[in-house]
Amino acid sequence: MSSGIENILEMIEIQQLPTKISAEKKIGFGMDGNEPRNAQEVVTSDLMDITERLHQEFGRMSGQKLLIVGGAGFLGYYLVQSVLFYNQSAAKPIEVTVYDNYIRGIPQWLKALEGDRHLRLVKHDITHPLPEDMEEVDWIIHAASIASPIFYRKHPIATMDANVGGLRTLLDYCLKRKDQGKPVAGFLYYSTSEIYGDPTPDAIPTPETYRGLVSCTGPRACYDESKRFGETLCVNFALQYELPIAMARPFNNFGPGLKITDRRVIPDFARNIFDNEDIVLLSDGSPTRTFCYIADAITGYYKILVNGRPGEPYNIGVEKPEISMFDLASRMADIGRSHFGYTGKVTRQVSQDREYLTDNPNRRSPIIEKAREQLGYDPKWSIDDALLRTMIWYKDNLVAEDL
Ligand SMILES: NC(=O)c1ccc[n+]([C@@H]2O[C@H](COP(=O)([O-])OP(=O)(O)OC[C@H]3O[C@@H](n4cnc5c(N)ncnc54)[C@H](O)[C@@H]3O)[C@@H](O)[C@H]2O)c1
Repeated sequence: MSSGIENILEMIEIQQLPTKISAEKKIGFGMDGNEPRNAQEVVTSDLMDITERLHQEFGRMSGQKLLIVGGAGFLGYYLVQSVLFYNQSAAKPIEVTVYDNYIRGIPQWLKALEGDRHLRLVKHDITHPLPEDMEEVDWIIHAASIASPIFYRKHPIATMDANVGGLRTLLDYCLKRKDQGKPVAGFLYYSTSEIYGDPTPDAIPTPETYRGLVSCTGPRACYDESKRFGETLCVNFALQYELPIAMARPFNNFGPGLKITDRRVIPDFARNIFDNEDIVLLSDGSPTRTFCYIADAITGYYKILVNGRPGEPYNIGVEKPEISMFDLASRMADIGRSHFGYTGKVTRQVSQDREYLTDNPNRRSPIIEKAREQLGYDPKWSIDDALLRTMIWYKDNLVAEDL
């Protein structure tokens, strides 16, 4: 019986694809060097690119067991699929287990992978004790936390519990394994760039050494402060017990897997474009961000998991360009016009939600030298190529559960 990922790859005739993307090919295009024609071509060329760039790291994990907690979410989309894609040509596959409570539904892409013999899906809430029949795992990624501001404000306690209590459960598991003489090989905790709060102008772009300017009682505090305490837990477990734990601070990732109903800014604009309605900015459009394409970010995350220094946080994102929300909307509208027959425009309106902009950082942009130097992280997608790929992916993924 063929596995879930094989079914998907068969559908897109993967056997006809080259096994490597040649270095000369212009980045931003599909596997044949042309613009991808549909979501499947975007995803397949991304998976080829990611697995090529992570050849060494996946080689280290080969034949071992990986647990991804919160693997049904946006980042899970490529965290899971890139490993299964690697397994297609690996002598010793990486065995993947996903724990997720599916608080925001079980996505179609994950259901489609259910038959893959190297993937185990377990419905589990990480704020509860670990399952009694849990297999021993070598690598752990803790990505279980609601990340979208609209949704974490709806579920603030669950967000804090996953980032603190859920994390503690997993750290205790690592300690137990060490005490048994079978230590895990690596642990990655997903923190966030939001731990910096709204940095003062002299701290933009922001290095890992910046301590942050964060409210502990504001509407975003359930997220920001639980991530901060999560990092404190990680550092102290890493140092006191000599465990291989490192942290990622993602800066605004986007791309395939971020469902159109997620209420983060890029899927919201995509929805406007495919509904052919005006893009309405709920601010004056001036806050700025750098946006990092998910294929770049995923390489950073696996590099931290495998080579991150114990107790160290790493910014993962891109340094340039730092663009305003208005600029972002305009770029997406331009792509909409050139590729998808969009005829709308970008407008502004005051949000009905009085808390919408409270504690929203005005500028966010990372310094990524530490990940570059220590891990060889090297993001390469341009914002416009990445937005185009994302829009092509949305065109084929316009329906998603609105949870
Ligand atoms: N995507 C980004 O740009 C970004 C930025 C900063 C930080 N992060 C962090 O990265 C991680 C993953 O982000 P994402 O964008 O994939 O988020 P997401 O909301 O798309 O996915 C999170 C997943 O975790 C699961 N989950 C939540 N609580 C859980 C629990 N108690 N037990 C088990 N599963 C649970 C959800 O069901 C979901 O599948 C999160 O920790 C997030 O805070 C992401």
